[in-house]
Amino acid sequence: MVDQLEEIKSKIDIVSFVSEYLPLKKAGRNFRALCPFHSEKTPSFIVSPERQIWHCFGCQKGGDIFGFLMQVENLEFPEALQVLAKRAGVKLVTSYQASEQAKIREKIFKINHLASEFYHYLLLNHRSGKQALDYLLGRTVSKKLMETFKLGWSPNLWDSLIKFLTKKGYTLADLETAGLVVKSEGSFYDRFRGRLIFTLRDHRGNVIGFAGRTLDPKATEAKYINTPETPVYIKGNVLYGLDVTREAIKKEDKSIIVEGEFDLISSFQAGAANVVAIKGSALTEGQLNLLKRFTQNISLALDMDIAGDAAARRGIEIADAAGFSINVVKLPAGKDPDECVKLNPSLWKKSVKNAIPVFDYFIDSAAARYDRKTAEGKRKIGDELLPVLAKISNPIVQSHYVQRLARLLEVSEEVIARTAQKIIKEKEVGTVRKTAPLPAQSANWQTREQLLEEQLLALILQNEDPHAVMADDRLQMTDKYLSSPSVKRIFKLLIEYLTSLRGKFKIKDFIKTIPAELVQTVDRAYLLDLGKTLEDKNLFSRELEKTILEIKKITLKKRLLSFAEKMKQAKKGELTLLTTEYRQVAAELKKCQ
Ligand code: CTP
Ligand code: MN
Repeated sequence: MVDQLEEIKSKIDIVSFVSEYLPLKKAGRNFRALCPFHSEKTPSFIVSPERQIWHCFGCQKGGDIFGFLMQVENLEFPEALQVLAKRAGVKLVTSYQASEQAKIREKIFKINHLASEFYHYLLLNHRSGKQALDYLLGRTVSKKLMETFKLGWSPNLWDSLIKFLTKKGYTLADLETAGLVVKSEGSFYDRFRGRLIFTLRDHRGNVIGFAGRTLDPKATEAKYINTPETPVYIKGNVLYGLDVTREAIKKEDKSIIVEGEFDLISSFQAGAANVVAIKGSALTEGQLNLLKRFTQNISLALDMDIAGDAAARRGIEIADAAGFSINVVKLPAGKDPDECVKLNPSLWKKSVKNAIPVFDYFIDSAAARYDRKTAEGKRKIGDELLPVLAKISNPIVQSHYVQRLARLLEVSEEVIARTAQKIIKEKEVGTVRKTAPLPAQSANWQTREQLLEEQLLALILQNEDPHAVMADDRLQMTDKYLSSPSVKRIFKLLIEYLTSLRGKFKIKDFIKTIPAELVQTVDRAYLLDLGKTLEDKNLFSRELEKTILEIKKITLKKRLLSFAEKMKQAKKGELTLLTTEYRQVAAELKKCQ
């Protein structure tokens, strides 16, 4: 099996594989991109063609193609293995045992897929679906779109889907797990009956569930019903349409966010294809994490009043904290995007293009509702906007809007800033911070000396000729100043390795000679982005010198501090010796300045 993993890895180049998900840019020996696994504004996600691995220096995630695929597509190992084996053309001799959970999910996907085909067939080909077909054509949904989004019809019977799927060999319990049937007093019946069906798929195209819309405008039941939570349907993670629209979203580097299924289909039809629907819920962290793989820019086109709706505001706050740039589309006509498209498709496209930044939208909206010339109006505008502005994550953006609000209310910026501060303080004292700190700041925080020592290692390992670098005079005593135990050990091993090396240094061969617990540190150093440093001999030499000097300085300063401690507690006899040593270290430090 291990051999097969190696075979698969050798047949799929990690650079071209990762490139299918992110735009990689060449950076020295490696490639670089914005990390898909955390929010960032400067790229710290690095891929190494030589080591065939990736690592993010922001969130510290890393691994090989298997790990990448698992993370990016949310797969378990066996699933990732299958995908990659197929792609590499490797026939697996023994298959990994999928976990129970993965097997259940796989089964639900199969059941849902069959149900989707069943409903779809009835809509397009069966007389029972005629009413729904006419309804859709009446709403100008073409047959091609019905096909693309796998729309369907569930007959107005208690057991049509049950009959179809039990004939295929599934049990009622299976259908219950998939959320397709309802159990009542010991018997089962179809959940979706007499409804137009929307197939809900994840971004990979797996059918996770369904939404059913009644065709009866006077119906007393809910207009829409949805699959309940199942092992594959998690309400907060659904982004309807993403499997179809993800390419357009990536291409435009922007996603329009609408509320309903029909809004999405209409926008898609009108040529604004970079759209997803959140199905009437507020934006969640799960949805934003998913979307972030495709874009960091969103345009909200929701029918709810986002300025007045607390849940919507919370969604915006999460998106802002996650680094999204957020715009709002002002609907010029109709009650929702679907109606707007129906009235005028190009009007819709134009309003999407003219979307305005969300905080401008908030200010405009409050200014339109209250009288900003009266004290009372000013107070109301402040009460509404300050909590929103206080939460803007970027201080520059925040200051921009504080200024705007101050001008609007004709008060000084200080007053705005002070009141905002007060609100922040009250929040912090009163409640536990709800938003988790970004991974970049919390995970595996490294000290400056660790960073410098890894940088030194990077300068040596990434060089064409590590042998020559190690022979450099300036490096001779350096290991005495290193404080990270793993870097120290790697240094020692590297010297030994280079001494006995015949021929060219190859990182792959070196890795094979070191203990497993050190591999991660070597890989990190090998993947560290050194910019243009390696391309220019002088630049390299300066960088090397600077790094060594910094390491020395930090170590010597630390030693001086500890001397000072010792001298405080020392007895008389020891003091002279300590003072001499102290002077030596101080003199050495002075040479470094
Ligand atoms: N929704 C839901 N369950 C409900 C009501 C609404 O899941 N009981 C979701 C649906 O995805 C719906 C969206 O919230 O599309 C917005 O609801 P609404 O504005 O009431 O419906 P429209 O999208 O306008 O639907 P239609 O155009 O078919 O009337
Ligand atoms: Mn509508």
